[in-house]
Amino acid sequence: MNMNVTVSAPGKLMVFGEHAVVYNRPCLVTAVDQRMRARVELTDDKVFFLDAPEVKISGYARPIREVGMGEIPKGAKFVEIAVKNFIENYPSSSGIKVTTASDFSSQFGFGSSSASTVCVLRALSELTGKKLDNKQLFDLAYKTVLDVQGKGSGFDVAAALYGGTLYFVAGGKTITPVKLRDIPLVVGYTGVKADTVTLMREVGEKMKAQPERIDRIYDAIVKLVEDARIKMIEGDWERVGKLMDFNQEYLRDLGVSSEKLESLISSAKGAGAWGAKLSGAGGGDCMIALAPEDKKKAIESAIEIAGGQVIHILPHAQGARLEL
Ligand code: MEV
Repeated sequence: MNMNVTVSAPGKLMVFGEHAVVYNRPCLVTAVDQRMRARVELTDDKVFFLDAPEVKISGYARPIREVGMGEIPKGAKFVEIAVKNFIENYPSSSGIKVTTASDFSSQFGFGSSSASTVCVLRALSELTGKKLDNKQLFDLAYKTVLDVQGKGSGFDVAAALYGGTLYFVAGGKTITPVKLRDIPLVVGYTGVKADTVTLMREVGEKMKAQPERIDRIYDAIVKLVEDARIKMIEGDWERVGKLMDFNQEYLRDLGVSSEKLESLISSAKGAGAWGAKLSGAGGGDCMIALAPEDKKKAIESAIEIAGGQVIHILPHAQGARLEL
């Protein structure tokens, strides 16, 4: 027996609502056209094997019956736990060989771990003939994220699976496509890898210490998300930009912005962006700006002069798909 399939899934950018979404609020996320790929093969050697060069995993192998047990190298965690969750639900006597590749650096915060989790689960669903639907795949992938990092809303998993732009409520309680053609985004990478788990923990501590204040911030963010959802569909980017600026103020209040993010954000705005904010957990990773077409070049140069790296992406990308 030697059956294989390749699945690709997009990375993502949080557009509105980070952190609040972990506490049962909605967010808006868009899938980006930089993709993660996994080639998955069922083998008859009863071994789980992983090559994942983008996270420095090469020739990692263990008996399939030991998958998910004991010490797992950092770069292998998401894929190995995804495989464990799949075979616990759908037992099989095969070995599983996974090879991943990425269009983008795992440093950007585009969600390479959740995208590779999605790729592997979708591939196993195809290979074993289970043909799980997106919600079943979401539940398995989200469980994998929680098993590995303890906390998270699952918005990145939803973006990788469904693609497009989504209105998403924590844990996948709501996953609704937002019908758009484009989002005029400019993306600047700070050069600093954000530590999402630590940032979520720090924000969680603030929530414990000052629940009313943080709840008020989250409720205010909900209003921005709801407003932005409508204005994005209307294509009123000037208003969406204003809403981004407000969202950034709340993120600053939560203490998750950084000097570098602020510098890229103010440079983008100084060069004519309608609005700008950090995207994701904060502390580093990327900022996003909404750019009028005639100012795009100037905004990109301003971000670079401020020490950021402009990343060219197309938002609203297609979700997980089989590759031939
Ligand atoms: C991280 O990219 C975004 C957070 O809202 C975490 C999550 O939603 O899982 C901070």
